[in-house]
Amino acid sequence: MKKVLITGANGLLGQYLVKLLLEKNYVVIATGKGDQRLSQNESPLFTYYDIDVIEGFSLHEVLKHETPDVVVHAAAMTQIDDCELQPEQCERVNVQGTAQVLLDAEAFCKHFIYISTDFVFDGVKGNYNETDDCNPVSFYGFTKLQSESMVEMSEMPWTIVRTCLVYGNVVGGTRSNIVSWVKNSLTEGNKIKVVSDQVRTPTFVEDLACGIELIINKTAEGFYHLAGKDILTPYEMAIATAEHFGLNKDLIEKVDASVFTQPAKRPPKTGLDITKARTELGYEPMGFSEALNKLKI
Ligand SMILES: NC(=O)c1ccc[n+]([C@@H]2O[C@H](COP(=O)([O-])OP(=O)(O)OC[C@H]3O[C@@H](n4cnc5c(N)ncnc54)[C@H](OP(=O)(O)O)[C@@H]3O)[C@@H](O)[C@H]2O)c1
Repeated sequence: MKKVLITGANGLLGQYLVKLLLEKNYVVIATGKGDQRLSQNESPLFTYYDIDVIEGFSLHEVLKHETPDVVVHAAAMTQIDDCELQPEQCERVNVQGTAQVLLDAEAFCKHFIYISTDFVFDGVKGNYNETDDCNPVSFYGFTKLQSESMVEMSEMPWTIVRTCLVYGNVVGGTRSNIVSWVKNSLTEGNKIKVVSDQVRTPTFVEDLACGIELIINKTAEGFYHLAGKDILTPYEMAIATAEHFGLNKDLIEKVDASVFTQPAKRPPKTGLDITKARTELGYEPMGFSEALNKLKI
């Protein structure tokens, strides 16, 4: 079975990917910044290393020692407003960090998988496929696109996975996502403003992990869009979440993005076309309502 090293293993995607790969008997080398927050640490197939991707030396040593078949690079500074306010730190983690991980992967492993985002697009066209032109409107999106370009130029086998608005159970201290935020806010009786003039294809984290496993298993190379199958506005997601958990929908106020003064611009209409992943990988994600049934948050 393949040996897979994951960066950003403490994050939302990382937690689920580690779990899925262990269930499928892969050897998993999980890496994250600081102590591990994963619950699978009893498995004999599991090893964890504390690695900050911007401190190249320890990553180099671990890759040299472990020589994994595959590296999945999921670590990133992901909070879009923080990226806009701290561009130097964002550039260090998202671009220089990727350069370092890629360099070491080229030396010690056989397949590099980079996790990217729908925020590489400007959000004018919507329903983007893998060949559509990129034009990020935020610093975060810009750094992710810069990393994509580096990966594309690599001579080792590579895959760039773009995903969109990932949600799932909050486990091991992962930050909140659209579903957990709506559910927690309404449970506490708080009013929330949710935009209805943005469009996304929200992605259940278990589906994303399954799609990445298919890529690992088939050594599928090139660009793949892995997202949910429903095209929804955040407002529609919030209403569906309230209905599913039997919470008070009247606390949800429908607004335009213009009511928020956020540091980073959001692309209005993204959403990812998953036809290629469906056809070539057999990727078949759940609908938003179906995925809500699987959430315990
Ligand atoms: N979540 C989404 O909606 C979404 C959408 C599109 C694309 N993506 C991409 O998907 C990937 C996974 O994101 P996610 O949703 O799992 O986000 P996440 O929960 O924020 O996970 C990112 C992980 O990266 C780690 N990290 C940050 N700086 C690091 C560094 N210098 N060295 C090592 N690790 C570092 C974080 O560590 P700490 O936990 O210790 O902070 C965190 O565990 C990212 O590349 C992101 O750009 C996510």
